[in-house]
Amino acid sequence: MPQTHSVNTGVYSMYSNLNRKLSEWLRLLPLLGILALLGYLTIRPFLPKKKKQKDSLINLKIQKENPRVINEIDIEDLNSTKVCYCRCWRSKTFPVCDRSHVKHNELTGDNVGPLILKKKML
Ligand code: FES
Repeated sequence: MPQTHSVNTGVYSMYSNLNRKLSEWLRLLPLLGILALLGYLTIRPFLPKKKKQKDSLINLKIQKENPRVINEIDIEDLNSTKVCYCRCWRSKTFPVCDRSHVKHNELTGDNVGPLILKKKML
């Protein structure tokens, strides 16, 4: 019997030690969190930043003061039988194509062109 008692005491003391160590570690958590935060804040200026790729912009200068460029044209207002609308965003008469896409395509190797609306003559 005394042997069982000593085994039980040993297990209890081991469990108690483990519990005490765990609670000591848990007490360190706020300090570890603060150290991790300070470490992050220290190295943050040296981390690579996401760059805005200016060269990937499609619209370089048309209505940049607006959050979105939206043009609305009523079909009934189309006077001619054929109208070309710019899709390259380089036209000086945007939204109507002024053939600036030709120069853009030559310079960049791109292949953009206008949207052509044709009215069928009945
Ligand atoms: S000028 Fe832009 S598509 Fe013609």
